[in-house]
Amino acid sequence: MRLDKFVLKSTLCTKSEVTEQISLGHIRVNGAVNTDITSQVHEDNVIQLNGQTLVTRPFRYMLMHKQADTLCSNVDGHYPSLLNNIDINHKDELHIVGRLDADTTGLVLITDDGRWSYNITRPECVCTKVYRVQLAKPINIDAVALFKQGILLQGESKPTLPAELIIMSAKEVLLSLTEGRYHQVKRMFFAIGNRVNALHRQQIGNVSLDIVAGEWRDLTADEVSSFQ
Ligand code: URA
Repeated sequence: MRLDKFVLKSTLCTKSEVTEQISLGHIRVNGAVNTDITSQVHEDNVIQLNGQTLVTRPFRYMLMHKQADTLCSNVDGHYPSLLNNIDINHKDELHIVGRLDADTTGLVLITDDGRWSYNITRPECVCTKVYRVQLAKPINIDAVALFKQGILLQGESKPTLPAELIIMSAKEVLLSLTEGRYHQVKRMFFAIGNRVNALHRQQIGNVSLDIVAGEWRDLTADEVSSFQ
């Protein structure tokens, strides 16, 4: 972890106060003054601020049920950020793991642990995301085989990875994906001549949505480690 991040995560200092404290030579790493905010430090280093040994706060791992017309962003835009619904200390350290469109509802993971979220979002991660999709037109049974085979999306050269499509009713399906391309679900249905009217993510890996819209909860230790 970078030295400035470590100090931020182990004190009540703001980002600019952290930079100031480090530049003024108030931080020692293993006894030596360190004024380089970008230097890397490790858990077994002894890091002190004015002689006081610092210990980082534990990482936070949360699940939220995103409402429609909210943004997966740390700041408000055309719609409010979904983080507005969370009232905890050091909220600015949180980030959203992957993004849903403003009109998409459902399961969103939130954390301040960059390594954990990278593990989930990196292309090699085969963690399945399950979407409930309401369609504009009745689904054609052929779509099951097409999605299993992979679909070439407009403007792309590689087909999508095999996806599982379960037909629930004429205009409602469950779609399981193991990748996360830009607007992937909407573009996949567009590619087969249909359109998504409503999109809801109900599961990521082993974690299922079990809270009402607008609420959040901490992940259990088992849920956190299921992504590691
Ligand atoms: N695919 C989409 O098209 N939109 C989302 O929000 C998520 C997946």
